[in-house]
Amino acid sequence: MTIAIEKQDVTTSPFIEVRNVSQVFRTTTRGEVAALKDIDLTIREGEFLSVLGPSGCGKSTLMRVIAGLVKPSSGDVLLRGTKVEKPGRDVGVVFQQAALFPWRSVKKNVLLSAEMLGLSKDVADERAEQLLDMVGLGHAKTLYPYELSGGMQQRASIARALLHDPPLLLMDEPFGALDALTRETMGLELLRIWDQSRKTVVFITHDVNEALFLADRVLVMAARPGRINELIEVNLPRPRDLDVMSTPEFGETAKHLRHLLGARTGE
Ligand SMILES: Nc1ncnc2c1ncn2[C@@H]1O[C@H](COP(=O)(O)OP(=O)(O)O)[C@@H](O)[C@H]1O
Ligand SMILES: [Mg+2]
Repeated sequence: MTIAIEKQDVTTSPFIEVRNVSQVFRTTTRGEVAALKDIDLTIREGEFLSVLGPSGCGKSTLMRVIAGLVKPSSGDVLLRGTKVEKPGRDVGVVFQQAALFPWRSVKKNVLLSAEMLGLSKDVADERAEQLLDMVGLGHAKTLYPYELSGGMQQRASIARALLHDPPLLLMDEPFGALDALTRETMGLELLRIWDQSRKTVVFITHDVNEALFLADRVLVMAARPGRINELIEVNLPRPRDLDVMSTPEFGETAKHLRHLLGARTGE
């Protein structure tokens, strides 16, 4: 008699597990702040997860905990089953401000992590060139940050975060400082990059439309204490363009998200 052994399906096994994570900050002015309380979350490999919530609900803290930049007060984070204890090579991070070094050219900025991680110079150099082409900055490699628009600076910081080819990209309100039009264009660009590189992306925003337009799932957080309000599946077809925002499905889901955030919708 033969016994059938089920093969493990790697595509559905959890990539990141956030298990019962709480984070308390002791402050001098506000006493104890419960930035995160009992967060349980599984992130699938290759998915695009948007994290949506009002200011102060713990989005950045959650991202820092996942990145290993902050050790949670309790609970833990597993990446492919291994506990995250410190920032590792598996993660690339993009912040709201591009934080490029003004004295380094665009390409030298992108090469920063190669130097920090001790990657081979030739390999890193070729990758930097490819990434700069991918984010549409092939023509701007030798420019300095002050010569770039805000959108271009953010493209450079995305290329920098991808240089060491991390499977996970964490983005904390990366387009928050950009005007509405540039923001939409960057969203489209990001989906194109995601489609090409198949990273797992955790994208933090407080913009309902942006969260919905980009994501496979939207995690909605609530404040005081920072916790999960709801996790919704987004079933909009891909590839997406901006027209998807005018569909009834988009409108309905956006309305639901606004209700969750407690916004007055005029009804
Ligand atoms: N290092 C810190 N020390 C003290 N309080 C903090 C610290 N970081 C965050 N907080 C507090 O924790 C809460 C959540 O912050 P944060 O994660 O930055 O929220 P969000 O990114 O959603 O705006 C806020 O009340 C914030 O003031
Ligand atoms: Mg934040």
